[in-house]
Amino acid sequence: MWKLKKKTTKSVYIYAIVTTLVLVSLYIISIFDITPSHLSYDYTLSSSAKPKIHEKSEWLTNFVDPLIGIRDGNVFPGPCLPFGVVKVGIDTRDAGLSYEVGYARIGLKRYDVVVELTASRRTGLHRYIFPPLINESHIMIDLSHINTHGRYVSGAISVTSNEMKGFGRYKDWRFGPEYSVYFCSQFDKNASEYYTFWNGVIKSNSSFESGGLYSIGAIMAFDTTKGSIIKSRVGISFISTDQACKSAQEEIPNWDFDLTREKAVEAWEVELEKIQVTGGTDDLKKIFYSNLYRTMIIPSDRTGENPNWISFDKNGRIIPTYDDFFTIVNFTSDKMPRSTFRTTIPLFTLFQQQRVIDITRSLIDIYRYTGYMPDGRCGMANGITQGGTNSDMILAEIFLKEIGKNIIDWEAGYKALLKDAKADPYWYGQAEGRMNLRHYLYYGYIPSTSFADSCSRTLEYSTNDYAISLVAKGLGKTEDHIKYKTRANSWQNLWCPDKTENGITGFIIPKRTDGKFDTSTNVLHEGFSFLKGSPWEYSLDIPHDVNKLIQLSGGIANFEKRLDLTFSNSTYETPLFKFRNVHSFFHPCLYHFINKQWKSVSVIRDILEKKFKIDSLPDDASDALSSWFIFHAIGIYPIAGRDIYLINSPQFSSISIQMSPTTQFIIKAPNLTPRNIYIRSVKLNDKDWKMSWFRHKDIENGGVLELEMGNEPSKKWPAGDSEDEKFVSPASSDDF
Ligand SMILES: *[C@@H]1O[C@H](CO)[C@@H](O)[C@H](O)[C@H]1NC(C)=O
Ligand SMILES: *[C@@H]1O[C@H](CO)[C@@H](O)[C@H](O)[C@H]1NC(C)=O
Ligand SMILES: *[C@@H]1O[C@H](CO)[C@@H](O)[C@H](O)[C@H]1NC(C)=O
Ligand SMILES: *[C@@H]1O[C@H](CO)[C@@H](O)[C@H](O)[C@H]1NC(C)=O
Ligand SMILES: *[C@@H]1O[C@H](CO)[C@@H](O)[C@H](O)[C@H]1NC(C)=O
Repeated sequence: MWKLKKKTTKSVYIYAIVTTLVLVSLYIISIFDITPSHLSYDYTLSSSAKPKIHEKSEWLTNFVDPLIGIRDGNVFPGPCLPFGVVKVGIDTRDAGLSYEVGYARIGLKRYDVVVELTASRRTGLHRYIFPPLINESHIMIDLSHINTHGRYVSGAISVTSNEMKGFGRYKDWRFGPEYSVYFCSQFDKNASEYYTFWNGVIKSNSSFESGGLYSIGAIMAFDTTKGSIIKSRVGISFISTDQACKSAQEEIPNWDFDLTREKAVEAWEVELEKIQVTGGTDDLKKIFYSNLYRTMIIPSDRTGENPNWISFDKNGRIIPTYDDFFTIVNFTSDKMPRSTFRTTIPLFTLFQQQRVIDITRSLIDIYRYTGYMPDGRCGMANGITQGGTNSDMILAEIFLKEIGKNIIDWEAGYKALLKDAKADPYWYGQAEGRMNLRHYLYYGYIPSTSFADSCSRTLEYSTNDYAISLVAKGLGKTEDHIKYKTRANSWQNLWCPDKTENGITGFIIPKRTDGKFDTSTNVLHEGFSFLKGSPWEYSLDIPHDVNKLIQLSGGIANFEKRLDLTFSNSTYETPLFKFRNVHSFFHPCLYHFINKQWKSVSVIRDILEKKFKIDSLPDDASDALSSWFIFHAIGIYPIAGRDIYLINSPQFSSISIQMSPTTQFIIKAPNLTPRNIYIRSVKLNDKDWKMSWFRHKDIENGGVLELEMGNEPSKKWPAGDSEDEKFVSPASSDDF
């Protein structure tokens, strides 16, 4: 099986470390030599690891394909735990790859080396299978190799015959300072020799190296003639090398690869089991669980790994630390990263309540120590902002849903919200806070004259202000409530009532400092004033005041016409509507507000059918589209920053969500078929339910939503505008 090649040295190079933006602690394996070869692989590798701990007939992790939707590299496919610190990845194209939950295998074809990877919370476990009969197999760490937008600054590495440890300093997050990643890579065998290198010079028998700028690292040479398998447990820490070693030893004490992998699978299984679905095809389940899996990769739970501060609550317990917030950012991509607040956090409020409490506490803690809550955050630094201060949306939602009510410090939380609403961050506004807030306050909108994204930012600031007004109301701060509710109308200042396109009148378009609209704006083109979307799209993005939007659009009939046109091209990739654009996520649900719920269902169903095929899933910007899909698959949809869910139409006939260890929310649609997609009637907790929406409190102690399905829309549900059965729009839900 193994063939010897001219070169006998088989080398695997582990490039440590860190791609910052995202996957802090990505381990990357690559190859050193370039001798071509075409060897095949059929070793006995880690057996398919299903934990013995947990006997069951059907493993939900079997439905997860970590590679689904990965095309543009905006999602992470490698082994990690749910919300884990370490994400173990690879960086080579010249390899055969195989990914499963908690496991990856790479066959490095040129060298006949197989690498298997698995992970615990802070430690990656690597298993290298070298060709036998080779007396010098190499493993290398290169601290300077970094995957994304960042750069290596400096670092140091020390080596013994079975350990390489040290740190690298990196700078990649545009606004963040340099930061250190400590690592400790321990081996289960002793090296026969080791080397260090810096700037191209390799030193034999050298046990220490430090330096900046250039390639730096260490190489271990193993005699693999007697046993060709080498394992390495690589602990990562943001605190110290010692802590990295400690994590590696504690998390993987016996070098047991299969057990580590089993535990990872088990950890994922436990999370996936919280939402169980029946009645769909296997393909649909595969899409469902792959998407659900993806929602839990970031943010990373870095509790215990915060190098900058440590804080405790009133009960003396540590306040959680989260990082890698909101996204994997690819600045050049057309993906919209800033969006976990729209669907991911709302999804967590259903099945990850402890997480969402921890995340909220972490956001408030970040405000306390850095001055602002993040909009995106990575490498322990806030940045980048692209729109509003959307931590506001998360806080408002958790507050209104009363999750962790007595655990979250709402006094500090409210201060964090007011900071966003009041303090212009000036030049630092690209990293945190609301850029050009002073203009927003002075003019009532951000003038287009010199500021990018002036319209999209004005809209988001308005929505953020509305969220703050709801929290103020809940805290009994009446003056603030009125103040921010009024400020939430700012978007109306950018509504140009005469702008007409395709027979539709009234659009959000740029306005100058002199108060004049830029009427030459083409509402079908992305422009300077809108972040990655057209004025047409953004002119529907007023989730906090849909009634006013309907009114400004010329009333219900005109609004319906506008929506129909928006979704008329069923590629759903037009300047009117791009299903992937996060600011358009909510738009298919707008029919609810004119009592045409069934039209929302038609559009959503069609998008799911056309765009979420098993062999061609859309690539995702982190997890936003994944959680968008999950909501539509379970047949409800959240209004972000609120406590409201709209009822659409599920894709499974039975869905059970474990909200807490003792609370279940069940959605049933027993007579759902591919044709019976419309709702005929609804019962919520055994009560006839006349509205197309409900509140979190209706299900907070568990509940059953029963949907009777039919092949055409009902005339009686939701209740109409007759004398005795008045239509209750979700838009009227917060009238005070
Ligand atoms: C490995 O084998 C080669 C060829 O058999 C030999 O020249 C070399 O000295 C050996 N190296 C070690 C470290 O034993
Ligand atoms: C590695 O070498 C150390 C001494 O340097 C020895 O104590 C240890 O047993 C060796 N480990 C293995 C796995 O051979
Ligand atoms: C490597 O260093 C150790 C300790 O300094 C020494 O005992 C050993 O002889 C050296 N080996 C080589 C090959 O230089
Ligand atoms: C970023 O996205 C662009 C466009 O989608 C893609 O071409 C590029 O490869 C991506 N870059 C990375 C590092 O993923
Ligand atoms: C629908 O949109 C696609 C993509 O923008 C475009 O190529 C196609 O011509 C449109 N179809 C119609 C009927 O307008």
